[in-house]
Amino acid sequence: MNNVTLHTLSALKQDGKKFAALTAYDACFAQLVSSAGIEVILVGDSLGMVLQGHDSTLPVTVDEMAYHTRCVASGNQGAMLMSDLPFMSYATPEQAMLNAGILMQAGAHIIKIEGGAWLAESITLLADRGVPVCAHLGLTPQAVNRLGGYRVQGRDETSARQMLDDAILLEQAGASMLLLECVPSLLAGEISRAVSIPVIGIGAGAQTDAQVLVLHDMLGITPGRKPRFVKDFMSDAGSIANALQSYGDQVRAGTFPADEHGFA
Ligand code: KIV
Repeated sequence: MNNVTLHTLSALKQDGKKFAALTAYDACFAQLVSSAGIEVILVGDSLGMVLQGHDSTLPVTVDEMAYHTRCVASGNQGAMLMSDLPFMSYATPEQAMLNAGILMQAGAHIIKIEGGAWLAESITLLADRGVPVCAHLGLTPQAVNRLGGYRVQGRDETSARQMLDDAILLEQAGASMLLLECVPSLLAGEISRAVSIPVIGIGAGAQTDAQVLVLHDMLGITPGRKPRFVKDFMSDAGSIANALQSYGDQVRAGTFPADEHGFA
């Protein structure tokens, strides 16, 4: 695969073509995921739950994100590498710039931060200094204590309107991508059409420009209850490489996610 850039992903959106993203936290999986043609690898702070066994992403540190970003960068074969800034590491624009610099120097091509309108100033400062930003809206796991649990967001008219307004504002502030997590499918479609930057969804239905899943979830190896938006691609794939290929194919064909994976 040629190196995936923001230009590649914008062109896919303009052509109405979908792309796929997956988390990875180490070199071996980064190699498998990128070799399967998955366009974006997310070094998610979900590693706090998946790798470290915490019950939230809050304990994850910038140093840990930088370590896993370096691991993934050394295995990556051309995918765009997105890294999460963890909880409280971008509470002020100054912190955002310092810590985004650390992740970019560890090998990230774009950083992801969670939140709405309050991020606008940091996004503009980062973009002006050459750091592309993906803004994560909807269910923002770092705010789980404020949200009162891992719940679908944007279900009522006021919060749906707020999310749409935030998305437009953050694009204007300089965001290069959006990620919508656990958002009603129709709202996610409306937001995806309202902005010109690519929108990645998870639990946000089939109308976004791209999909992301946590790697361990789509390989069916996460213990406990499977969230509604997860599909196990490993069960009939025979190999991890086939499962990754099948995920990418189904996202690009628009057959994943199906209605049953979304929220009304
Ligand atoms: O940390 C992560 O893996 C994420 C995904 C759930 C989108 O942010």
